[in-house]
Amino acid sequence: MFLKFLKRFFSKNSDKKYIQNAYEVVGQINALEEKFQKMTDAEMFAYVPTIKQKISNGCVLNEVLPETFALVREAGVRSIGKRHFDVQLIGGMVLHDGDIAEMPTGEGKTLVATLAAVLNALLEKGVHIITTNPYLAGRDSESMGKIYNFLGLSVSCVLSTMSNTEKRAAYRSDIIYGTNSEFGFDYLRDHLHYKLIDMVQEQHYYAIIDEADSILIDEGRTPLIISGASATDTAIYQRINDITSLLTATNYEVDHKNKSVQLTDDGAENVESIIIKHKLIAQDSKLYDAENLHILHHIEQALKAQKLFKRDVDYIVKNGTAMIIDEFTGRVLQGRRYSDGLHQAIEAKEGLAIQPENEIIASITLQNYFRMYDKIAGMTGTAKTEERELQEIYSLNVRKIPPNKPLIRVDEEDVIFRTEKEKNKAIVSEIMKAHSKGQPVLIGTVSVEKSELISNLLEKEHIPHKVLNAKHDAQEAEIISDAGRIKAVTVATNMAGRGTDIELGGKMPLEVEEFDKHNEDANKVKELGGLLVIGTERHESRRIDQQLRGRAGRQGDPGRSIFFLSLEDDLMKLFGSAKLSVFLQKLGIRENEAITHPWITKAIQRAQQKVEMRNFELRKNLIQYDDVINKQRKIIYAKRLEYLTRGDFLNDDINATIAAFFQKLVEHSYDESCDEFDVDKIQTLVSELIGKEYKMSIQDNRHSKSHSKKIAEGLVDFTSDIIVKLREENDEFLTTIQNTLLSILDAFWREHLKFLEYLRIGINLRSYGQKNPLHEYNIEAFNAFQKMKNDINDAMAERIFMIIRYYENKDAAMEEKLKTSNVVNSDSGIRRNAECPCGSGKRYKHCHGKY
Ligand SMILES: Nc1ncnc2c1ncn2[C@@H]1O[C@H](COP(=O)(O)OP(=O)(O)OP(=O)(O)O)[C@@H](O)[C@H]1O
Ligand SMILES: [Mg+2]
Repeated sequence: MFLKFLKRFFSKNSDKKYIQNAYEVVGQINALEEKFQKMTDAEMFAYVPTIKQKISNGCVLNEVLPETFALVREAGVRSIGKRHFDVQLIGGMVLHDGDIAEMPTGEGKTLVATLAAVLNALLEKGVHIITTNPYLAGRDSESMGKIYNFLGLSVSCVLSTMSNTEKRAAYRSDIIYGTNSEFGFDYLRDHLHYKLIDMVQEQHYYAIIDEADSILIDEGRTPLIISGASATDTAIYQRINDITSLLTATNYEVDHKNKSVQLTDDGAENVESIIIKHKLIAQDSKLYDAENLHILHHIEQALKAQKLFKRDVDYIVKNGTAMIIDEFTGRVLQGRRYSDGLHQAIEAKEGLAIQPENEIIASITLQNYFRMYDKIAGMTGTAKTEERELQEIYSLNVRKIPPNKPLIRVDEEDVIFRTEKEKNKAIVSEIMKAHSKGQPVLIGTVSVEKSELISNLLEKEHIPHKVLNAKHDAQEAEIISDAGRIKAVTVATNMAGRGTDIELGGKMPLEVEEFDKHNEDANKVKELGGLLVIGTERHESRRIDQQLRGRAGRQGDPGRSIFFLSLEDDLMKLFGSAKLSVFLQKLGIRENEAITHPWITKAIQRAQQKVEMRNFELRKNLIQYDDVINKQRKIIYAKRLEYLTRGDFLNDDINATIAAFFQKLVEHSYDESCDEFDVDKIQTLVSELIGKEYKMSIQDNRHSKSHSKKIAEGLVDFTSDIIVKLREENDEFLTTIQNTLLSILDAFWREHLKFLEYLRIGINLRSYGQKNPLHEYNIEAFNAFQKMKNDINDAMAERIFMIIRYYENKDAAMEEKLKTSNVVNSDSGIRRNAECPCGSGKRYKHCHGKY
């Protein structure tokens, strides 16, 4: 307890000290303001090269910070009519220092980012500005782009709709905006290409992460996955779905807290008899037999799909496909599917076409993606509660920066009802009250379903309104720009809960003649109390609630926020509603009566804190597992890059690969009983491998174990001479080898990823034997990786020999073989029944695919 107090005390003090020091720099920037005010636009344009020159003469960024910030501030005034406030300059410094700037919602963090972005762009290594959704990325790159262009810097926004060439060009800008998943997926896709020119990203130097808590904490946990179809027969999902529909409520137990469904003993018996009848398992076998575990897995997933996952809450169905909705952002997670057959189970439940199950081709968590950058910084309105996690996992300090103008928004105590129905009634009447005055209202809901429910209630009362949810994301910009107008009523999911800037009186018009009318409207809305934000349910995380409130009271404007809750809300049902219920009874709450009491607000906060803690533990656990895969991925990707860049590395790699192979071959030909190498055997094997007669030189032809290295070196020399010759004679020789090495590396890595996934799922079953699952996982993952490296080497060596034989003899049959194996090794991955890429002629599962 005392330690906690000390920590808080020091962190507050260090913030204070930091801000004090920062104000000194603000003084220097302010002193430079006049200098830039006097410059012409052209002189300002030419100033960035001047500062760059100082840097090439040895100045460090901190030394040129004051003049760069002063320059950007003046550029802001001239290009978009906004002058960075002093506190915004401090925010810029925090970002440059590689920490998190916590600035209240609506303080203008979009503008803050321009300072650190320009300063760091001076190093010409690219600055990535990352946010949560394409709407914000587009908005910010466009609005702030004017400042960068004014200073002669290039800016772009990477979009999922761009072609590879467009993306590559975009990534070469000075400042690059985009969403977290776009950046992450581009990184993964880059490591699936076969040509260096196809890679779109360059350096990972500096990332400024907007809505940092959302990206680094809430999203940090979800891995980005690129997957390809596997060969499972999809009919099974439909059959299992039909079977589980026959089960009764006593057959299974639903655990909402842990999001799992399990069969009861009764249920298992029932299922067993049904699947025997349907001939899914043999007459005399049991559901829990090892060979039937996959059926059990399907059954559990189908039950999950039916009993836990709700349409319009967890996912929507659009154009015949089920799309996941992210619970934190309320958006469709483009292209993402639930894993382990759950998505297929949902498709079966909804009667949709079932897409084949996917297997992982590449994956990375956002946590590990961002750990690659030399420097990351973040900004958000809500980070302090997660300070420990940000510090532990990313070494980021959270700096709390005071607002430019004090916050005057009124945050009301929660109003709690017994039932949802009563709550909704009260919400509608609150909306009507504000609406009749003309005050704009934003209603935040937790799901598409709830947003539609409120919309229906409003329709009944004939209140004109707009709905913003994952189903209407195309009209997003338009709906938001209208949300602050007089009489506007907007019902939204979490989609509008972060980063959106609702301007009072509506969006600033483009025509000068309309300015007066806009100001008049804005003032009228202010007189009416600004924007009213109504929360209709609490989110698991307090930060999300705070962000929703933060849509009102921006830039010192008036505003009001209020949450209406009921004991039937999901969060209340899950945590502490029994206690609350007793408490409410004590207070004597009756039907249709609401209650507001600070104790209740506190109780809810405690419940939220509990969930936050639990989620933190989950994330910590995940990152430990992910650390292993991350280290291994780095090794594989680094190798890949070596092959792609071709240079000397490729030569060295080829030599090292065959050297390791020959070493083994020689050792195998050693006969301990007579301390002799089987020279004939070596000669025959090597001649067969290379397709050219090999004769060991006299000095190599010695009989002693210690001589094995020398013999192997002789073999390598022999082979490398042939390779040099073939390279000179055939233009495409090296490219063939390069592609082969890449495809082998990719194929084995994919199999390894799949193995790690099974290992992670399976290892927890082993935790009984008092073994630490993480420790076990680490050991097994390490061993499997070592084995894989060994197998990769063998496969590569054998393929290199095969290519040599082909070029030496230009044998038509061999050409055919090479062609077919290249198909196997294309991006689609190796099938278990396909021929092994090592060229052995065996099936992959019987050769290098057998773990
Ligand atoms: N220096 C400034 N002068 C005038 N207006 C400003 C200034 N800085 C920001 N603003 C305005 O303040 C509003 C809020 O800005 P912005 O959306 O960047 O806030 P934010 O801090 O990112 O909020 P959130 O946390 O909700 O994302 C915008 O309308 C912006 O134009
Ligand atoms: Mg913002």
